[in-house]
Amino acid sequence: MRHFLSVSDLSADEFRGIIQRGSEFRKQFEAGITEALFPRKSLAMIFEKSSTRTRVSFEAGIGQLGGHALYLSPNDTQLGRGEPLEDTARVLSQMVNLVMIRTFSHESLQQFCSASSIPVINGLTDLLHPCQLLADMQTYFDYRGDIKGKTVAWIGDGNNVCNSFINTAKLLDFKMRIASPAGYGPNKGILEQGRSQVELCNSPNDAVDGADLVVTDVWASMGQETEANKRTVAFADYKVTKAHMALAAKDALFMHCLPAHRGEEVDADVIDGDQSVIWDEAGNRLHAQKALMEFLLNQASS
Ligand code: CP
Ligand code: NVA
Repeated sequence: MRHFLSVSDLSADEFRGIIQRGSEFRKQFEAGITEALFPRKSLAMIFEKSSTRTRVSFEAGIGQLGGHALYLSPNDTQLGRGEPLEDTARVLSQMVNLVMIRTFSHESLQQFCSASSIPVINGLTDLLHPCQLLADMQTYFDYRGDIKGKTVAWIGDGNNVCNSFINTAKLLDFKMRIASPAGYGPNKGILEQGRSQVELCNSPNDAVDGADLVVTDVWASMGQETEANKRTVAFADYKVTKAHMALAAKDALFMHCLPAHRGEEVDADVIDGDQSVIWDEAGNRLHAQKALMEFLLNQASS
């Protein structure tokens, strides 16, 4: 039985296998084919934070695989009245086949996982967003082939998505150049583990120079709303513009996990421009996560 709390829970071969399978699922979906490979399997989804893509892709995904999803908000479950995470995990393990959780603290996810006897999927924590990286890598591979040896420029906050990018750089052997304002860099432990792949840059221009993929995300993540004004000042020079894209490789792609703020972390003419692949990136959440659920359900039954 396996969990997916981090990209680092997979081997490189497993990760590559899942995104390849995700591409197959995408082709089938576009051809109008959905196979009920896991009839009557159920996925419980616990969301402490808001979501559009993660919720819809998991809910639609398990449905297309023949199963169904349950949306659980802390407000209307006993979690909101203080029932321990571990007790909730033990109960859900008796009733469903998979759990996806979006939490604030990564420790809450680990705590839940420690008591779960069914596979647990990280649907985003303050520390990591590994499902996003499955979709991002599926998208890159579909457009450009293997990312091994390529260079990814990350501009902006060293947040959960950035941390998962670093883990993926290590796993799939690509380089990352990260430009963040002082004090807003990635997690130090993750940076340490990925140090062979990562270069910290002094400016967005240094990071994007010749890069194959340019990525950014919001300046204030969920849970950081009260810091938004302070961050707007700190990140003023970290907006991805056309001028940055012109410094990147000619065939560079642009990605953003969404939701985005046009005119803040990225200009509209970049995110809505020719090099942007954000809609495929978002759409691939569905296909990559179907492949992930298939992998975890197969592991659990073998
Ligand atoms: N990218 C992403 O995870 O989006 P949601 O917050 O809408 O799920
Ligand atoms: N870094 C963002 C990602 C949202 C999908 C956040 O945590 O809010």
